[in-house]
Amino acid sequence: MTHTRIMLFHPDLTRSTANAALAEAAWGMPGVKVVDMYGRYGRSGVDTDREVRELLAADRLVLQFPVHWYAPPALLQDWQAAVLTRMFYINAEAEGRWLEGKPLLIAATAGNVPSAYSASGQNGFALETLLQPLQATARRCRLRWAAPFLLYEANRLKPAGLERAARDYRRHLRHWIDETAPLQLTAAE
Ligand SMILES: Cc1cc2nc3c(=O)[nH]c(=O)nc-3n(C[C@H](O)[C@H](O)[C@H](O)COP(=O)(O)O)c2cc1C
Repeated sequence: MTHTRIMLFHPDLTRSTANAALAEAAWGMPGVKVVDMYGRYGRSGVDTDREVRELLAADRLVLQFPVHWYAPPALLQDWQAAVLTRMFYINAEAEGRWLEGKPLLIAATAGNVPSAYSASGQNGFALETLLQPLQATARRCRLRWAAPFLLYEANRLKPAGLERAARDYRRHLRHWIDETAPLQLTAAE
């Protein structure tokens, strides 16, 4: 079975409804592991040895987070600066090159409505556009980009809405996992 590593960056998971529901839905899926990155590191420094080891052991990666001020929470930036700099600028041959080609999925939740995320809307930009720095990172690291999973009005969802979002996330993950599964070659008879 392949291994999907979801890195969840939520600064206060105890107050989360949306990301907590999505993470719980993903946890039960075969081969999927969720890592609470703020729980692991809080305000302390990122353990780059551990992160590199776990990244290289995974078959595909998910970065899941709530949008805060039109961007991912700060620990995600710190994680990139520590781990990806080491892997792709310092140890490119020994580490970075072994991450290349792995699929990367972004799963982001936002409080605002979809129409706010447009050129004529309140925020002036599509959420996909605001996520482009992550797309550039994926391109630099040769990770395979996929259509992000985006959840709007995430802080206003009632239990039924949260359940629907959790179902949609599982479906999105399942489809992406199937789509990115290595080809199973069977021996010729
Ligand atoms: C400090 C802070 C900044 C936020 N900035 C944005 C924002 O820029 N755009 C937006 O749509 N929602 C914003 N929100 C709303 C969060 O995205 C929303 O509450 C979150 O996605 C809900 O997920 P959760 O229940 O897992 O926290 C912000 C929330 C906080 C606390």
